[in-house]
Amino acid sequence: MATGINRRWMLKQRPQRLPGPECYEWREEPVPRAGENEVVIRNLYMSLDPAIRGWMDDRPSYLPPIPLGGVMRATTIGKVLESRCAGFERGDIVQGLNGWEDYSVSQGRGFTARVPVHPGLPLTDFLSVLGTTGLSAYFGLLEVARPRAGETVLVTGAAGAVGSIVGQLARRAGCRAVGVAGSDEKCAWLERECGYDATINYRTRANDLVAAIRAACPDGVDIQFENVGGGILEAGLECLNKRGRVLLCGLISQYNAGGDVRGIRNLWQLIAKTARIEGFLVRDWLDRWAEAAAELAKLVAAGELHHREHIERGLEHAPETFLRLFDGNHQGKLIVDIAGNEA
Ligand SMILES: NC(=O)c1ccc[n+]([C@@H]2O[C@H](COP(=O)([O-])OP(=O)(O)OC[C@H]3O[C@@H](n4cnc5c(N)ncnc54)[C@H](OP(=O)(O)O)[C@@H]3O)[C@@H](O)[C@H]2O)c1
Repeated sequence: MATGINRRWMLKQRPQRLPGPECYEWREEPVPRAGENEVVIRNLYMSLDPAIRGWMDDRPSYLPPIPLGGVMRATTIGKVLESRCAGFERGDIVQGLNGWEDYSVSQGRGFTARVPVHPGLPLTDFLSVLGTTGLSAYFGLLEVARPRAGETVLVTGAAGAVGSIVGQLARRAGCRAVGVAGSDEKCAWLERECGYDATINYRTRANDLVAAIRAACPDGVDIQFENVGGGILEAGLECLNKRGRVLLCGLISQYNAGGDVRGIRNLWQLIAKTARIEGFLVRDWLDRWAEAAAELAKLVAAGELHHREHIERGLEHAPETFLRLFDGNHQGKLIVDIAGNEA
């Protein structure tokens, strides 16, 4: 049985825009014990996802908001420390929606399952390429957007955890993959490692983004895999082909906009191109996660699917680490190493 403390980040105040230190409260509490039908999980790694920013707001969404005073929510990979829940034993490695904390209590709901440990693949892969971000790329592109060989797929937020996988899956489907990302280094990595056919640095091409997309997509855009929103989304819509498909996976440029959220000003393009725009949630595909993760794991193990992880050490730094998602100051899936040498 663990002795010691459970370090936790609680939501103290809802952010108006970027979530600053005033939004959080650090608490140190006793390590919890498992009640009936519960397990106690020692969290090892925690995934910092843009979605967390949405859960900090008090507004209707696909999950209830994090309550004020409640623990911050995140997907974690952890080890079962104590189980009074059928199907889980001490030492099992599990993944699921838990908290920004050393130890989480779960009723078996809310954590997906035991992680099918693959020899040779690190546990953190189950928070990245084999976790919700890799699976978002997989289901969003292959099942919703349904690419056909010869089409052009434009990916925004291309160097991120979702975007970097989308381009590679698009290439495997016989498509031209074009990525929009926020630095020359990220663009170079996308072309060199991920096989993107062309990339655009939206920061240096901010004034002529439409021209840059047209040049990189000489046959127009058939699928726009949208992770960013705002002006980048609008620029892509200008380049859509007839019957183009826009998959709305995320709108990260708008998550901290407060009352100034920007709508789509050129929605007319969807009419002019008889195009389709569709929202997507990876949670809707939960019953097929294991199957898709197994398929992606084979590609990763064979060296045919590349990804990067940016692992920051220390639960205590989670609030400032979280901000990296919004200024792009990370290379790949953003993860916090909670347990250090215990992992
Ligand atoms: N629908 C779903 O089920 C689902 C599931 C997972 C993720 N998502 C969404 O997918 C998107 C990507 O998530 P991720 O986990 O892969 O994150 P990520 O791309 O690894 O990290 C976020 C990146 O977004 C870019 N960014 C941030 N603010 C921006 C802005 N104002 N303008 C332009 N780019 C900006 C930055 O990259 P640069 O350096 O390139 O600017 C940053 O590195 C998010 O919108 C997220 O909400 C949706």
